[in-house]
Amino acid sequence: MNILILGSGGREHSLAWAVKQNPRTDRLIVAPGNAGIAQLAEVAAIDILDGAAVVAFCAENAVDFVIIGPEAPLAAGVADAARAAGILTFGPSADAAKLEASKSFTKEICDACGAPTAAYARFTDSAAARAHIRAQGAPIVVKADGLAAGKGVIVAVTEAEALAAIDDMFGGEFGAAGAEVVIEEFMTGEEASFFVLTDGINALPIGTAQDHKRAFDGDTGPNTGGMGAYSPAPVLTEAVQAQAMAEIVLPTIREMARRGTPYQGVLYAGLMIKEGRARLVEYNARFGDPECQVLMMRLGAQVLDLLLACVEGRLAEARVNWADDHALTVVMAARGYPGAYARGSVIHGLKRLPEDSRHMCFHAGTVEREGRILANGGRVLNITARGASLAEARNRAYAMLDHLDWPEGFCRGDIGWRALS
Ligand code: AMP
Ligand code: GLY
Repeated sequence: MNILILGSGGREHSLAWAVKQNPRTDRLIVAPGNAGIAQLAEVAAIDILDGAAVVAFCAENAVDFVIIGPEAPLAAGVADAARAAGILTFGPSADAAKLEASKSFTKEICDACGAPTAAYARFTDSAAARAHIRAQGAPIVVKADGLAAGKGVIVAVTEAEALAAIDDMFGGEFGAAGAEVVIEEFMTGEEASFFVLTDGINALPIGTAQDHKRAFDGDTGPNTGGMGAYSPAPVLTEAVQAQAMAEIVLPTIREMARRGTPYQGVLYAGLMIKEGRARLVEYNARFGDPECQVLMMRLGAQVLDLLLACVEGRLAEARVNWADDHALTVVMAARGYPGAYARGSVIHGLKRLPEDSRHMCFHAGTVEREGRILANGGRVLNITARGASLAEARNRAYAMLDHLDWPEGFCRGDIGWRALS
Protein backbone atom coordinates (compact mmCIF):
# COMPACT_ATOMS: atom_id res chain seq x y z
CA MET A 1 0.00 0.00 0.00
CA ASN A 2 1.00 3.64 -0.46
CA ILE A 3 1.52 5.44 2.82
CA LEU A 4 1.87 9.12 3.68
CA ILE A 5 3.31 10.21 7.03
CA LEU A 6 2.83 13.86 8.06
CA GLY A 7 5.60 15.56 10.04
CA SER A 8 9.30 16.37 9.98
CA GLY A 9 10.85 15.33 13.29
CA GLY A 10 12.58 12.39 14.90
CA ARG A 11 9.16 10.96 15.73
CA GLU A 12 8.26 10.81 12.04
CA HIS A 13 11.69 9.47 11.05
CA SER A 14 11.24 6.59 13.49
CA LEU A 15 7.67 5.94 12.28
CA ALA A 16 8.90 5.90 8.68
CA TRP A 17 11.79 3.57 9.60
CA ALA A 18 9.42 1.06 11.23
CA VAL A 19 6.68 1.30 8.56
CA LYS A 20 9.23 0.93 5.75
CA GLN A 21 10.30 -2.49 7.11
CA ASN A 22 6.78 -3.89 6.80
CA PRO A 23 6.25 -5.83 3.56
CA ARG A 24 2.80 -4.23 3.13
CA THR A 25 4.50 -0.90 2.41
CA ASP A 26 4.91 -0.25 -1.32
CA ARG A 27 5.45 3.48 -1.53
CA LEU A 28 6.33 5.62 1.50
CA ILE A 29 6.09 9.40 1.40
CA VAL A 30 6.76 11.77 4.30
CA ALA A 31 5.69 15.41 4.22
CA PRO A 32 7.56 17.63 4.75
CA GLY A 33 10.22 15.23 6.15
CA ASN A 34 13.89 16.01 6.77
CA ALA A 35 17.31 14.97 5.49
CA GLY A 36 17.35 11.67 7.41
CA ILE A 37 13.84 10.75 6.32
CA ALA A 38 14.81 11.48 2.70
CA GLN A 39 17.34 8.63 2.92
CA LEU A 40 14.56 6.06 3.35
CA ALA A 41 11.38 7.59 1.92
CA GLU A 42 10.19 10.09 -0.65
CA VAL A 43 9.66 13.54 0.83
CA ALA A 44 7.03 16.02 -0.36
CA ALA A 45 6.59 19.72 0.38
CA ILE A 46 2.94 20.08 1.33
CA ASP A 47 1.30 22.30 3.92
CA ILE A 48 0.39 19.66 6.50
CA LEU A 49 -1.99 22.03 8.32
CA ASP A 50 -4.14 22.32 5.18
CA GLY A 51 -6.59 19.40 5.06
CA ALA A 52 -7.62 20.14 1.46
CA ALA A 53 -3.98 20.15 0.33
CA VAL A 54 -3.33 16.82 2.08
CA VAL A 55 -6.45 15.27 0.49
CA ALA A 56 -5.48 16.55 -2.98
CA PHE A 57 -1.96 15.14 -2.58
CA CYS A 58 -3.39 11.77 -1.54
CA ALA A 59 -5.63 11.68 -4.62
CA GLU A 60 -2.77 12.56 -6.99
CA ASN A 61 -0.45 9.98 -5.44
CA ALA A 62 -2.90 7.13 -4.81
CA VAL A 63 -2.20 7.26 -1.07
CA ASP A 64 -4.07 4.50 0.79
CA PHE A 65 -3.14 5.37 4.35
CA VAL A 66 -2.19 8.59 6.15
CA ILE A 67 -0.38 8.64 9.50
CA ILE A 68 -0.45 12.01 11.27
CA GLY A 69 2.61 12.63 13.48
CA PRO A 70 2.31 16.02 15.24
CA GLU A 71 -0.53 17.65 17.17
CA ALA A 72 -0.97 20.79 15.04
CA PRO A 73 -2.56 19.06 12.00
CA LEU A 74 -4.78 17.04 14.36
CA ALA A 75 -6.03 20.21 16.07
CA ALA A 76 -6.49 21.76 12.61
CA GLY A 77 -8.84 18.95 11.56
CA VAL A 78 -6.61 17.27 8.97
CA ALA A 79 -7.71 13.80 10.14
CA ASP A 80 -11.36 14.85 9.69
CA ALA A 81 -10.67 16.10 6.15
CA ALA A 82 -8.79 12.95 5.13
CA ARG A 83 -11.41 10.59 6.59
CA ALA A 84 -14.23 12.58 4.96
CA ALA A 85 -12.42 12.02 1.64
CA GLY A 86 -12.47 8.27 2.30
CA ILE A 87 -8.76 7.91 3.11
CA LEU A 88 -7.70 5.52 5.88
CA THR A 89 -6.26 7.88 8.49
CA PHE A 90 -4.41 7.33 11.75
CA GLY A 91 -5.04 10.15 14.21
CA PRO A 92 -7.98 11.64 16.14
CA SER A 93 -10.53 14.13 14.85
CA ALA A 94 -10.15 17.78 15.90
CA ASP A 95 -12.93 17.22 18.47
CA ALA A 96 -11.13 14.23 19.98
CA ALA A 97 -7.70 15.92 19.80
CA LYS A 98 -9.06 18.46 22.29
CA LEU A 99 -7.73 16.01 24.87
CA GLU A 100 -4.37 17.59 24.02
CA ALA A 101 -5.43 20.95 22.64
CA SER A 102 -7.42 22.06 25.72
CA LYS A 103 -6.31 21.42 29.30
CA SER A 104 -9.70 22.44 30.71
CA PHE A 105 -11.47 20.04 28.31
CA THR A 106 -9.31 17.19 29.61
CA LYS A 107 -10.15 18.14 33.19
CA GLU A 108 -13.86 18.14 32.28
CA ILE A 109 -13.50 14.62 30.83
CA CYS A 110 -11.66 13.43 33.96
CA ASP A 111 -14.47 14.83 36.12
CA ALA A 112 -17.11 13.16 33.96
CA CYS A 113 -15.48 9.72 34.02
CA GLY A 114 -13.88 9.81 37.47
CA ALA A 115 -10.26 9.54 36.28
CA PRO A 116 -7.78 10.45 39.03
CA THR A 117 -5.91 13.70 38.30
CA ALA A 118 -4.75 16.85 40.13
CA ALA A 119 -7.43 19.02 41.71
CA TYR A 120 -7.99 22.15 39.61
CA ALA A 121 -9.86 25.34 38.95
CA ARG A 122 -10.24 27.25 35.66
CA PHE A 123 -10.22 31.00 35.10
CA THR A 124 -10.80 33.53 32.35
CA ASP A 125 -10.23 36.43 34.72
CA SER A 126 -6.91 37.51 36.23
CA ALA A 127 -8.22 38.84 39.57
CA ALA A 128 -10.06 35.60 40.36
CA ALA A 129 -7.03 33.51 39.34
CA ARG A 130 -4.72 35.59 41.56
CA ALA A 131 -7.10 35.27 44.51
CA HIS A 132 -7.18 31.49 44.01
CA ILE A 133 -3.38 31.29 44.04
CA ARG A 134 -3.19 33.39 47.23
CA ALA A 135 -5.73 31.09 48.87
CA GLN A 136 -4.00 27.85 47.79
CA GLY A 137 -0.36 28.88 48.22
CA ALA A 138 2.66 27.31 46.50
CA PRO A 139 3.87 25.01 45.03
CA ILE A 140 1.12 25.21 42.45
CA VAL A 141 0.87 24.62 38.69
CA VAL A 142 -0.40 27.25 36.23
CA LYS A 143 -1.33 26.16 32.68
CA ALA A 144 -2.41 28.02 29.58
CA ASP A 145 -5.48 26.16 28.34
CA GLY A 146 -4.47 25.81 24.69
CA LEU A 147 -1.53 24.50 22.64
CA ALA A 148 1.61 26.46 23.53
CA ALA A 149 4.38 24.29 22.03
CA GLY A 150 5.15 22.76 25.43
CA LYS A 151 5.78 26.17 27.04
CA GLY A 152 2.37 26.84 28.55
CA VAL A 153 2.91 25.02 31.86
CA ILE A 154 4.52 26.78 34.82
CA VAL A 155 5.29 24.63 37.85
CA ALA A 156 5.53 27.48 40.36
CA VAL A 157 7.60 26.86 43.47
CA THR A 158 6.60 30.20 44.99
CA GLU A 159 3.39 32.19 45.01
CA ALA A 160 5.20 35.07 43.29
CA GLU A 161 6.13 32.82 40.36
CA ALA A 162 2.54 31.65 40.04
CA LEU A 163 1.23 35.23 40.08
CA ALA A 164 3.81 36.23 37.45
CA ALA A 165 2.63 33.31 35.28
CA ILE A 166 -0.94 34.58 35.55
CA ASP A 167 0.18 38.05 34.46
CA ASP A 168 2.06 36.56 31.48
CA MET A 169 -0.83 34.39 30.38
CA PHE A 170 -3.55 36.99 30.66
CA GLY A 171 -1.04 39.52 29.27
CA GLY A 172 -1.10 37.56 26.01
CA GLU A 173 2.27 35.79 26.14
CA PHE A 174 0.68 32.60 24.80
CA GLY A 175 -1.84 34.33 22.56
CA ALA A 176 -5.28 32.71 22.41
CA ALA A 177 -3.92 29.62 24.20
CA GLY A 178 -3.70 31.71 27.40
CA ALA A 179 -7.17 33.26 27.28
CA GLU A 180 -8.23 30.57 29.74
CA VAL A 181 -5.96 29.35 32.53
CA VAL A 182 -6.10 26.11 34.52
CA ILE A 183 -4.58 26.17 38.01
CA GLU A 184 -3.72 22.77 39.46
CA GLU A 185 -2.62 21.11 42.63
CA PHE A 186 1.09 20.28 42.46
CA MET A 187 1.48 16.50 42.32
CA THR A 188 4.57 14.69 43.58
CA GLY A 189 5.79 11.29 42.40
CA GLU A 190 7.58 9.86 39.37
CA GLU A 191 6.42 10.73 35.86
CA ALA A 192 6.12 8.26 33.01
CA SER A 193 4.38 8.02 29.66
CA PHE A 194 1.90 5.32 28.70
CA PHE A 195 0.97 4.76 25.03
CA VAL A 196 -2.32 3.15 24.07
CA LEU A 197 -3.81 2.61 20.61
CA THR A 198 -7.57 2.93 20.44
CA ASP A 199 -10.11 2.53 17.65
CA GLY A 200 -12.70 4.43 19.70
CA ILE A 201 -13.90 1.38 21.62
CA ASN A 202 -11.06 -1.07 22.12
CA ALA A 203 -7.67 -0.17 23.53
CA LEU A 204 -4.26 -1.81 23.16
CA PRO A 205 -1.26 -0.69 25.25
CA ILE A 206 1.83 -0.49 23.04
CA GLY A 207 4.52 0.56 25.46
CA THR A 208 5.82 2.79 28.20
CA ALA A 209 8.63 5.34 28.28
CA GLN A 210 10.22 8.05 30.35
CA ASP A 211 11.80 11.19 29.00
CA HIS A 212 14.15 13.84 30.34
CA LYS A 213 12.63 17.29 29.99
CA ARG A 214 15.45 19.41 31.41
CA ALA A 215 18.28 20.55 29.16
CA PHE A 216 21.27 19.56 31.31
CA ASP A 217 22.65 16.63 33.29
CA GLY A 218 21.14 15.88 36.67
CA ASP A 219 17.75 17.14 35.40
CA THR A 220 18.84 20.77 35.69
CA GLY A 221 18.45 23.73 33.34
CA PRO A 222 15.47 24.91 31.33
CA ASN A 223 12.58 22.71 30.18
CA THR A 224 12.82 21.34 26.65
CA GLY A 225 10.70 19.17 24.39
CA GLY A 226 12.72 16.21 25.69
CA MET A 227 16.48 15.51 25.71
CA GLY A 228 16.28 11.72 25.70
CA ALA A 229 14.01 8.82 26.52
CA TYR A 230 14.00 5.15 27.31
CA SER A 231 11.52 2.29 27.16
CA PRO A 232 10.18 0.47 29.06
CA ALA A 233 9.60 2.71 32.10
CA PRO A 234 10.27 0.58 35.19
CA VAL A 235 7.85 2.63 37.31
CA LEU A 236 4.97 1.59 35.02
CA THR A 237 4.76 -1.97 36.31
CA GLU A 238 2.08 -4.36 35.03
CA ALA A 239 -0.02 -3.49 38.08
CA VAL A 240 0.25 0.28 37.55
CA GLN A 241 -0.53 -0.13 33.83
CA ALA A 242 -3.62 -2.18 34.72
CA GLN A 243 -4.77 0.51 37.17
CA ALA A 244 -4.11 3.29 34.65
CA MET A 245 -6.08 1.39 31.98
CA ALA A 246 -9.01 0.67 34.30
CA GLU A 247 -9.24 4.06 36.03
CA ILE A 248 -7.94 6.54 33.46
CA VAL A 249 -7.58 5.36 29.83
CA LEU A 250 -10.68 3.17 29.37
CA PRO A 251 -13.06 5.56 31.18
CA THR A 252 -11.73 8.41 28.99
CA ILE A 253 -12.26 6.40 25.79
CA ARG A 254 -15.80 5.52 26.88
CA GLU A 255 -16.59 9.13 27.80
CA MET A 256 -15.31 10.39 24.43
CA ALA A 257 -17.46 7.81 22.61
CA ARG A 258 -20.48 8.65 24.77
CA ARG A 259 -20.17 12.31 23.70
CA GLY A 260 -20.23 11.33 20.04
CA THR A 261 -16.55 12.25 19.58
CA PRO A 262 -14.81 8.86 19.71
CA TYR A 263 -11.02 9.00 19.96
CA GLN A 264 -9.10 7.07 17.30
CA GLY A 265 -5.32 7.01 17.24
CA VAL A 266 -2.64 6.84 19.89
CA LEU A 267 -3.55 8.20 23.29
CA TYR A 268 -0.42 9.28 25.15
CA ALA A 269 -1.16 9.46 28.86
CA GLY A 270 1.37 11.42 30.90
CA LEU A 271 1.10 9.86 34.36
CA MET A 272 2.34 10.74 37.84
CA ILE A 273 3.00 7.58 39.85
CA LYS A 274 3.14 7.59 43.60
CA GLU A 275 2.87 4.65 45.97
CA GLY A 276 1.97 2.32 43.11
CA ARG A 277 -0.90 4.43 41.80
CA ALA A 278 -1.07 6.59 38.69
CA ARG A 279 -2.82 9.92 38.29
CA LEU A 280 -3.20 11.73 34.97
CA VAL A 281 -0.92 14.73 34.36
CA GLU A 282 -1.99 15.31 30.78
CA TYR A 283 -3.01 13.65 27.54
CA ASN A 284 -1.36 14.05 24.19
CA ALA A 285 -3.14 13.09 20.99
CA ARG A 286 0.00 11.74 19.26
CA PHE A 287 3.18 9.84 19.93
CA GLY A 288 5.72 11.59 22.17
CA ASP A 289 8.92 12.94 20.69
CA PRO A 290 11.47 11.46 21.54
CA GLU A 291 9.42 8.68 23.22
CA CYS A 292 8.20 7.45 19.82
CA GLN A 293 11.78 6.77 18.75
CA VAL A 294 12.33 4.23 21.55
CA LEU A 295 8.91 2.65 21.04
CA MET A 296 9.56 2.21 17.30
CA MET A 297 13.01 0.79 17.98
CA ARG A 298 11.36 -1.92 20.10
CA LEU A 299 8.22 -2.58 18.03
CA GLY A 300 9.73 -2.42 14.52
CA ALA A 301 7.74 -3.44 11.43
CA GLN A 302 4.66 -4.70 13.31
CA VAL A 303 3.78 -1.06 14.01
CA LEU A 304 2.14 -0.76 10.60
CA ASP A 305 -0.12 -3.77 11.30
CA LEU A 306 -1.08 -2.27 14.68
CA LEU A 307 -1.85 1.17 13.22
CA LEU A 308 -3.97 -0.43 10.48
CA ALA A 309 -5.84 -2.55 13.04
CA CYS A 310 -6.52 0.70 14.89
CA VAL A 311 -7.96 2.58 11.90
CA GLU A 312 -9.90 -0.42 10.62
CA GLY A 313 -11.54 -1.06 14.02
CA ARG A 314 -9.80 -4.43 14.46
CA LEU A 315 -7.90 -3.67 17.65
CA ALA A 316 -9.88 -6.21 19.70
CA GLU A 317 -8.06 -9.01 17.87
CA ALA A 318 -4.64 -7.26 17.57
CA ARG A 319 -1.67 -8.42 19.64
CA VAL A 320 1.73 -6.86 20.24
CA ASN A 321 4.73 -9.17 19.83
CA TRP A 322 6.85 -8.13 22.76
CA ALA A 323 10.56 -8.76 22.93
CA ASP A 324 12.12 -8.59 26.37
CA ASP A 325 14.29 -5.65 25.32
CA HIS A 326 15.09 -2.03 26.13
CA ALA A 327 15.69 1.02 23.99
CA LEU A 328 17.23 4.39 24.76
CA THR A 329 17.64 7.57 22.75
CA VAL A 330 19.98 10.51 23.31
CA VAL A 331 18.95 13.83 21.76
CA MET A 332 21.70 15.89 20.13
CA ALA A 333 20.57 19.52 20.18
CA ALA A 334 22.04 22.73 18.78
CA ARG A 335 23.98 24.73 21.39
CA GLY A 336 21.65 27.31 22.92
CA TYR A 337 18.51 25.14 22.69
CA PRO A 338 15.86 25.56 24.12
CA GLY A 339 16.81 29.26 23.85
CA ALA A 340 18.21 30.89 20.70
CA TYR A 341 20.42 28.66 18.56
CA ALA A 342 22.06 28.82 15.13
CA ARG A 343 21.03 26.77 12.11
CA GLY A 344 23.26 25.62 9.29
CA SER A 345 26.29 24.04 11.00
CA VAL A 346 27.64 20.94 9.23
CA ILE A 347 27.28 17.57 10.98
CA HIS A 348 30.19 15.24 10.23
CA GLY A 349 30.50 11.54 10.92
CA LEU A 350 26.91 10.47 10.22
CA LYS A 351 28.05 7.90 7.64
CA ARG A 352 30.19 6.20 10.29
CA LEU A 353 27.17 5.44 12.51
CA PRO A 354 25.92 1.84 12.49
CA GLU A 355 22.33 1.48 11.24
CA ASP A 356 20.68 -1.84 11.96
CA SER A 357 17.98 -3.33 14.18
CA ARG A 358 19.99 -2.29 17.25
CA HIS A 359 21.28 1.14 16.23
CA MET A 360 19.61 4.00 14.45
CA CYS A 361 20.25 7.71 14.17
CA PHE A 362 16.87 9.36 13.69
CA HIS A 363 17.00 12.90 12.34
CA ALA A 364 14.90 15.49 14.17
CA GLY A 365 15.97 18.77 12.56
CA THR A 366 18.29 18.42 9.56
CA VAL A 367 18.48 19.56 5.97
CA GLU A 368 20.71 18.42 3.09
CA ARG A 369 22.72 20.94 1.07
CA GLU A 370 25.14 19.80 -1.65
CA GLY A 371 25.56 16.39 -0.12
CA ARG A 372 26.21 17.68 3.39
CA ILE A 373 23.81 17.33 6.34
CA LEU A 374 23.22 20.60 8.21
CA ALA A 375 21.54 21.25 11.54
CA ASN A 376 18.15 22.83 10.96
CA GLY A 377 16.39 22.93 14.32
CA GLY A 378 16.79 22.95 18.10
CA ARG A 379 16.66 19.20 18.53
CA VAL A 380 18.71 17.82 15.64
CA LEU A 381 19.52 14.09 16.00
CA ASN A 382 18.20 11.20 18.11
CA ILE A 383 20.92 8.62 18.70
CA THR A 384 18.91 5.49 19.44
CA ALA A 385 19.89 1.95 20.44
CA ARG A 386 18.33 -1.28 21.63
CA GLY A 387 19.72 -3.91 23.98
CA ALA A 388 18.87 -6.83 26.22
CA SER A 389 19.14 -4.48 29.19
CA LEU A 390 18.77 -0.73 29.58
CA ALA A 391 22.49 -0.48 30.40
CA GLU A 392 23.35 -2.23 27.13
CA ALA A 393 21.04 0.09 25.16
CA ARG A 394 22.57 3.10 26.89
CA ASN A 395 26.14 1.96 26.23
CA ARG A 396 25.37 1.33 22.55
CA ALA A 397 23.77 4.74 22.12
CA TYR A 398 26.62 6.62 23.77
CA ALA A 399 29.17 4.56 21.79
CA MET A 400 27.47 5.79 18.59
CA LEU A 401 28.07 9.38 19.71
CA ASP A 402 31.82 8.79 19.54
CA HIS A 403 31.55 8.64 15.72
CA LEU A 404 29.88 12.03 15.47
CA ASP A 405 31.79 15.21 14.83
CA TRP A 406 29.52 18.17 15.45
CA PRO A 407 31.03 20.79 17.81
CA GLU A 408 27.95 23.02 17.50
CA GLY A 409 25.79 20.37 19.18
CA PHE A 410 25.37 19.12 22.75
CA CYS A 411 23.63 16.29 24.54
CA ARG A 412 23.03 15.05 28.05
CA GLY A 413 25.45 12.44 29.36
CA ASP A 414 23.04 10.85 31.82
CA ILE A 415 19.98 9.69 29.86
CA GLY A 416 18.35 6.81 31.73
CA TRP A 417 20.01 7.62 35.06
CA ARG A 418 16.91 7.19 37.16
CA ALA A 419 16.18 3.69 35.85
CA LEU A 420 19.87 2.70 35.86
CA SER A 421 20.74 3.81 39.39
P1 AMP B 1 1.94 19.09 30.75
O1 AMP B 1 2.21 19.85 29.47
O2 AMP B 1 0.59 19.25 31.31
O3 AMP B 1 2.45 17.67 30.71
O4 AMP B 1 2.97 19.72 31.79
C1 AMP B 1 4.35 19.72 31.55
C2 AMP B 1 5.06 19.18 32.75
O5 AMP B 1 4.74 19.96 33.90
C3 AMP B 1 4.66 17.76 33.12
O6 AMP B 1 5.36 16.81 32.38
C4 AMP B 1 5.01 17.74 34.59
O7 AMP B 1 6.39 17.53 34.77
C5 AMP B 1 4.67 19.12 35.04
N1 AMP B 1 3.32 19.17 35.61
C6 AMP B 1 2.16 19.42 34.95
N2 AMP B 1 1.12 19.38 35.77
C7 AMP B 1 1.60 19.09 36.99
C8 AMP B 1 1.00 18.90 38.29
N3 AMP B 1 -0.31 19.08 38.49
N4 AMP B 1 1.83 18.60 39.32
C9 AMP B 1 3.16 18.47 39.12
N5 AMP B 1 3.77 18.64 37.96
C10 AMP B 1 3.01 18.95 36.90
N1 GLY C 1 8.46 14.44 24.91
C1 GLY C 1 7.24 15.01 25.32
C2 GLY C 1 6.22 15.16 24.28
O1 GLY C 1 6.35 14.69 23.16
O2 GLY C 1 5.20 15.80 24.55
